Amino acid sequence: MKIIYHGHSFVQVQNKNHSVLIDPFISGNPTAITKPEEFKCDYVILTHGHGDHISDAISVAKKNNATIISSFEIANYAAANGITSHPLGIGGSFNFPFGRVKLTIAHHSSSFPDGAYAGNPAGVLLTIDGKTIYHAGDTGLFYDMKLIGEMNKIDLAFLPIGDNFTMGIDDAVKAAEFVNAGVVVPIHYNTFDIINANPEDFKKKVESIGKKCRIINIGESVEL
Ligand code: NI
Ligand code: MN
Repeated sequence: MKIIYHGHSFVQVQNKNHSVLIDPFISGNPTAITKPEEFKCDYVILTHGHGDHISDAISVAKKNNATIISSFEIANYAAANGITSHPLGIGGSFNFPFGRVKLTIAHHSSSFPDGAYAGNPAGVLLTIDGKTIYHAGDTGLFYDMKLIGEMNKIDLAFLPIGDNFTMGIDDAVKAAEFVNAGVVVPIHYNTFDIINANPEDFKKKVESIGKKCRIINIGESVEL
């Protein structure tokens, strides 16, 4: 399968039959190099309600007739906007046609751009074609990441490194140790000045603890 990084926290997982978007943020993203109408997908997974994660979710899901998978509150919001949706609670998982999705905790907040309550923020464990991807969402470091790493063989982990709203580099290096993924990929940095971080620093520090790190440039992809 192919995993494409579209900048910020926006990751696309694509195999022969399915295209799954996680946290599509294109409109309002100064680093975006794509347009919302270019995306083909059948599922959209949303970690939380903040605008830098859901800005294009409704329009892209509508255009593609895709299903939104997220918290109960965000699933209801999607349904109210005419989108097919599937609610998941933290710790809950479900087998979808493309694979299994489980929501994990994330230490953050979650509201819609208008301030309305959007439930709890989450991370995502996605098992597809026998591989497991962990997308931490927006989160601070938490010790249960160790449990996530112990209970899942994670092949690829997307970890925020931009600080201010999420983990910074040093906390994300500890997270990389805890989740023990085959490869970690930094996300949620350099989109705005307030979250500037040097991914090369992160990479060096991750490698210094014996783990693999891959920086994926915006618009580039990796095979898994
Ligand atoms: Ni957020
Ligand atoms: Mn964010």
